[in-house]
Amino acid sequence: MKICIIGSGYVGLVTGACFADLGNNVICVDKEAVKIRKLKAGIIPIYEPGLQEMVRRNIKELRLTFSSKINEAVRKSEVIFICVGTPSKDNGDADLSFVENVSRQIALSMPSYRLIVEKSTVPVHTGEWVERTINIFNKRNMKFDVASNPEFLREGSAIKDFMNPDRIVLGVKSKKASDILTELYKPLNAPIVVTDIKSAEIIKHASNSFLATKISFINAVSDICDKSGADIVEVARGMGLDKRIGKDFLDAGCGFGGSCFPKDLSAFIRISEKLGYDFALLKEAQKINEYQKKLLVKKIEEMLWNLPKKTIGILGLAFKPNTDDIRYAPALDIIAMLSREGARIKVYDPEAMPNARLALSRLGAAKGVEFCKDAYQVSKNSDCLAVLTEWNEFKELDFRKIKKSMRQAAIVDGRNIYDPVELKKIGFRYTGMGRR
Ligand code: UDX
Repeated sequence: MKICIIGSGYVGLVTGACFADLGNNVICVDKEAVKIRKLKAGIIPIYEPGLQEMVRRNIKELRLTFSSKINEAVRKSEVIFICVGTPSKDNGDADLSFVENVSRQIALSMPSYRLIVEKSTVPVHTGEWVERTINIFNKRNMKFDVASNPEFLREGSAIKDFMNPDRIVLGVKSKKASDILTELYKPLNAPIVVTDIKSAEIIKHASNSFLATKISFINAVSDICDKSGADIVEVARGMGLDKRIGKDFLDAGCGFGGSCFPKDLSAFIRISEKLGYDFALLKEAQKINEYQKKLLVKKIEEMLWNLPKKTIGILGLAFKPNTDDIRYAPALDIIAMLSREGARIKVYDPEAMPNARLALSRLGAAKGVEFCKDAYQVSKNSDCLAVLTEWNEFKELDFRKIKKSMRQAAIVDGRNIYDPVELKKIGFRYTGMGRR
């Protein structure tokens, strides 16, 4: 099929590359000319395992091209995916002006029937607005369909998630739209949920809100474990074996971050509010997530008594492993809190250092933060280590060597990646999140 992807950010690029890899002809569009120039040369602006190779392979095989001209791309393509950003406004609403803009430009460029698919995460009713906008600017009265096909990609495993999805959700209004999209996704051999557009839109927000709530739930239980002396890892294992609960997303820690969960949770709270429902459960999930970061700082304080002039070694800055993404990463807030308390901070992350440096200076929290070349340099003369991202390389550190170089042997394991018994045997004071 001839496909055009508007918005070559994270979602757009992965979607475009994967559709091309499945044998379609794909044009990825972006308004940033510099980005397009780089993409044409096979230079990818994000870190995602396997993406660069896939993009280069499909450019070479002439299935994947890049353009900064929406009108040209829309003219050449039968299916158009909207993958532009939907950032949070101050009040938590999703800002949909990019979606509106793109819809207008599509309407002005359609030479014949087009299927326009929203893939960005959008509030319920966006499909109706897209349709209305296209109708207003569709001066030549071309036939078209609007559909919703939310993405469920996780950073770090986006290609695998695209190629092996648990389900594909298609929100459609016509059989034609359903047939085209079902055909497009046929090679993936995954269960397809064909439904109406509003339900598809809600499936996305409800899924992410549910997962975020699941994390906050286990984080709340971890606090009970802290207070009672139980071990959250054992508790989660015992809960997770119940198939109705499931073992995924039961890892307690210093909180969730990333470009999706915090934003989608706020958006779903606002959507519900506008529809007349106070989604207090989700507000509580948000509150628990904020509390986890403060709790981590409190745990460091309990280890070290006073924070001023103490050196805290931070291991991990990205919001999760295998990405350089630091958007809404707990590490940013935690570092800001620690530096407000007067602590000295040393940090290391295998991929996210450049992004973190930028983000921390924007927050005004970069002063006094020392960026180190590895975990061992971080440990040197530190009073306490705090693990904020569970990178594999942190699981295999030589703690005897680390103990010798630290000023005090103390660890706050914000992701519960270590065995407390082993670390204590080496001589560390240890606390995790819901286990000691
Ligand atoms: C998420 C959704 O999983 C994906 O379906 C959606 O399309 C986009 O948002 P992503 O943001 O890439 O994907 O990250 P994910 O792997 O889901 O993790 C989100 C956050 O939750 C991370 O900060 C992670 O550390 C945290 N998390 C996850 C926990 O704290 N505990 C867990 O058990 C699982």
